[in-house]
Amino acid sequence: MSAYLFGCARSARSLLFQLAGRDGPVPQAFRHGEDIPVKVLLVYGTSEGHTYKIARFLAARMVQNGHRVLTADCSDASVLPEPGTFDAVLVAASVHAGRYQSAVIDFVRRNRDAIRARRNAFLSISLSAAASEAADRAGLQRCVEEFERRTGWTPGRVHHAAGALRYSAYGFVTRWMMKRIAGRRGGPTDTRRDYELTDWNDLAKFADEFTGPERPPVRAPTAA
Ligand SMILES: Cc1cc2nc3c(=O)[nH]c(=O)nc-3n(C[C@H](O)[C@H](O)[C@H](O)COP(=O)(O)O)c2cc1C
Repeated sequence: MSAYLFGCARSARSLLFQLAGRDGPVPQAFRHGEDIPVKVLLVYGTSEGHTYKIARFLAARMVQNGHRVLTADCSDASVLPEPGTFDAVLVAASVHAGRYQSAVIDFVRRNRDAIRARRNAFLSISLSAAASEAADRAGLQRCVEEFERRTGWTPGRVHHAAGALRYSAYGFVTRWMMKRIAGRRGGPTDTRRDYELTDWNDLAKFADEFTGPERPPVRAPTAA
């Protein structure tokens, strides 16, 4: 049986995915009769590594459900595949100072026609996604709008997930700044440890919906 998870051989991170695929669970049958295996390209950008962790989690989930997933880190343009040979494209990126990774923007801009032509979604990782204030939600909306404007791509679906506070990965100034931002929002401020705010169950649900049977768009009822 072919491997359900495969990666870019030249990328150390993607190689890890390859190994995970070989050792990981390979389902013998699909859970529901209607499930059709989907060949997914999952492209991500990450600055401190948390979106990479999320990409690995999503890939493992989709593989477990019988789909095939190729993951690729946008920062290594030499190993980025063409989306044209995939059934679906999932793009994930994290917010830093209101922006997503420029390598992700470049990838989407170059490939937007191929991305549009297949099932597609954008996964936004941020700390604001963990906040309940309307201002944080509005801020994220503006980040996505700016991303759409810069890429020329309106994703079929946008999903927001809370990221992590990785104090151990920050330099002195960033750690001080992130502690202040977290403190103002009632978040964790003990910089001796890291915090994951990610709701993994919600992400699993997102992965299942993304690869699940496609439903026709809902149309407004016509006037009688
Ligand atoms: C320097 C810096 C700036 C950030 N700026 C924002 C921001 O503007 N809005 C937000 O919601 N989260 C912000 N975050 C939080 C990141 O989106 C969050 O830590 C995410 O998990 C990072 O994912 P990554 O490790 O894959 O890059 C920032 C984090 C850092 C370190």
